[in-house]
Amino acid sequence: MTTNNQNAVTVTVTGAGGQIGYSLLFRIAKGEVFGDSVVNLRLLETEQGVQAARGVALELADCAFPLLGEVTITTEIDEGVKDANAVFLVGAKPRQKGEERADLLAANGKIFGPQGKAIAEHAAEDVRVIVVGNPANTNAAIVAAHAEGLDPRRVTALTRLDHNRGLAQVADKLGVAVRDLKNMTVWGNHSASQFPDIAELTLNGEKVADKLDEAWVNDEFIPRVAKRGAEIIEVRGRSSAASAASAALDHMRDWVNGTAEGDWVSVALPSDGSYGIPEGLVFSFPCRSVNGEWEIVQGLEISPAQQERIDANIKELQEEKAAVVEAGLL
Ligand code: NAD
Ligand code: LMR
Repeated sequence: MTTNNQNAVTVTVTGAGGQIGYSLLFRIAKGEVFGDSVVNLRLLETEQGVQAARGVALELADCAFPLLGEVTITTEIDEGVKDANAVFLVGAKPRQKGEERADLLAANGKIFGPQGKAIAEHAAEDVRVIVVGNPANTNAAIVAAHAEGLDPRRVTALTRLDHNRGLAQVADKLGVAVRDLKNMTVWGNHSASQFPDIAELTLNGEKVADKLDEAWVNDEFIPRVAKRGAEIIEVRGRSSAASAASAALDHMRDWVNGTAEGDWVSVALPSDGSYGIPEGLVFSFPCRSVNGEWEIVQGLEISPAQQERIDANIKELQEEKAAVVEAGLL
């Protein structure tokens, strides 16, 4: 086993015995996020889930990944986040058919306060946190509120999956490659109200809005992307896992290494007031990673139609926030 050295990172994954964990851990251990750094993994699970995490650790060993360092399996939060440079907060209940993600708040919200506190107390100063467990935005708000002393900008939530879904839908519609599309934006909440916005989207540098029928955008594209999670549950019988893990990797990789030249990605983070979003609300914005920090893309023009969709997300997130305040979680 490798012990900590200068070129090592410590990465925590909660819910390591679950389905997203199973897609995520092997790719992290292979070096997809942290380049040639040795990766020490901390797998945090519940008493019920820890046996599955032990099995994952056996398989990680069997992969003989050259960059894999220590693997720690624990049910103790403080140990789970100790010295972590990156924390993937995945462990939470997934929704079932017919549920909305906000229906999970009662079951999942209470997980994230203690984790936020432990991260502030025991993780590395440069820790980067991504919340995947649903409802991701409001869970991230709970983490940030309990992480006393931690810059709230180090706590984010995953909307990159929605961003990637948007790119895939447009690429399919236009018969082009995803790699030729840039500047997709998802605004707001990782929920059915989210606003996947193609106003700035370009194909090989040219805006695509004119090439797409407005009725298709409003009546097919936006609802399809916003409800894709439910579609996956309907068809697969379980919520998305490999695509969610892949998006979480994209998010952390870009945060650490920077976004591609001329592009931006969608990240949910505590608002600094940009675009009139109330400060502190964990909201998805177009972001670039510059020198290892997320920066919200400024100066985009927002039409009344766009504003209406953004406002619906503000309202929904404020309602979720009020519900967790009432439950004593925030
Ligand atoms: P899963 O049920 O397969 O696995 C969840 C794992 O988390 C289980 O092993 C469970 O024991 C563990 N867990 C529960 N509470 C925990 C805690 N307090 N600490 C550590 N581990 C804990 O679920 P999954 O499919 O991996 O999904 C996990 C979460 O991610 C769900 O809430 C799901 O809705 C969400 N999700 C979010 C996105 C997104 O884009 N934001 C995408 C897909 C799934
Ligand atoms: C998704 O978008 O696939 C996840 O949030 C899972 C879900 O409940 O939809």
